[in-house]
Amino acid sequence: MPSAYIKGIGFYVPANIVTNKDLERHMDTTDEWIQERTGIQERRYGTRHQETTSTLGTEAAKKAIANAGIEPNEIDLIIFATLSPDYYFPGCGVLLQRQLGINKTEIPCLDIRNQCSGFVYGLSIADAYIRSGMFKNILLVGAETHSMGLDFSTRGRNVTVIFGDGAGAVVISATDEHFRGILATKIHANGEFAEELAMINPGSHGGVHAADPSIYGYNEAEYGETFISQKMLDDGMIFPNMNGQLVFKNAVAKFPEVIGEVLQASGLEKSDIDLLVCHQANLRISQFVQKAMGLRDDQVWNNIQKYGNTTAASIPIALAEAVEAGKVKKGDLISLAAFGSGFTWGAALIRW
Ligand code: UT7
Repeated sequence: MPSAYIKGIGFYVPANIVTNKDLERHMDTTDEWIQERTGIQERRYGTRHQETTSTLGTEAAKKAIANAGIEPNEIDLIIFATLSPDYYFPGCGVLLQRQLGINKTEIPCLDIRNQCSGFVYGLSIADAYIRSGMFKNILLVGAETHSMGLDFSTRGRNVTVIFGDGAGAVVISATDEHFRGILATKIHANGEFAEELAMINPGSHGGVHAADPSIYGYNEAEYGETFISQKMLDDGMIFPNMNGQLVFKNAVAKFPEVIGEVLQASGLEKSDIDLLVCHQANLRISQFVQKAMGLRDDQVWNNIQKYGNTTAASIPIALAEAVEAGKVKKGDLISLAAFGSGFTWGAALIRW
């Protein structure tokens, strides 16, 4: 059975830098509050009418494919993870395929959601496909354009200040070298908390998950006007919402737990980890996990200060940056871990 390894990696972030001071002009917030609670100093926003989730993903994918030393038409599966797709449907996978100019190969495109855990979920899918022998070179992309769908009034400040745009990509390929590449992945979910970090509207829920359907913008029209209603627009109900403290509390418990699971599955110890790359949700969460894992500062890669939380893109952006900075050597043990909306969470262990 072949093993799966990361043959190429790349990331792309828009040029447009938005500082905390810039956000102060739109909502009642301060640079001090944002830095103290999250560690974020600035984030990137895509250029309007030019950059989208699929175009950011395409730029990252081109870099990952070049880094892998293969041609785009050697890719035999695309997996695209995002919560901010260009279209509600079809997914970004087919747009990326077209933008890479490989639509003539007619390779399958798999779109996954899984929010902040999208990259780790995608990695576990790619790993299983490669091991099964079904595909040889899988392109896995995590990309987000949050800036187009956030509430820039004070009402949305607890969510809006956190998120940024960007993309990261990897080419995952088959190798006969065992004990190299993806050693283990573990993925989990608990739907009890689905609405605690969510974008409820627009959607086809019809209010059925709420005791009072009107709080989800439910409309009594005989047909239509349920997916998106005037009430949703008038009452500003079309933005993401987050119970920050609940997410924080669960994240700091689940990160160390799931990293422990991949270590156990591989017969390895915390002390074997050379580099930990956590989903960049909040610098305080990453610091908490670092402490729980007993790792030094130089064993952890954080870049939320520059990019904010880029959801499905945050792990591949951080990993690509660490690789570019020469922080990752062949043979190093890398742990990736994510937690977010769903709740979904997961971890991976990679021998570089
Ligand atoms: O990637 C997906 C996973 N997401 C996460 O992992 C996020 C986890 N949660 C967090 O990172 C934190 O909960 C936040 C950074 C979102 C919020 O920090 P917090 O320390 O939990 O603040 P809080 O929500 O308890 O709010 C404290 C105060 C409130 O004011 P009062 O009620 O004490 O007067 C908020 O209204 O801070 C206020 N506040 C703000 N003030 C200035 C909330 N957002 C802001 C803001 N600027 N942007």
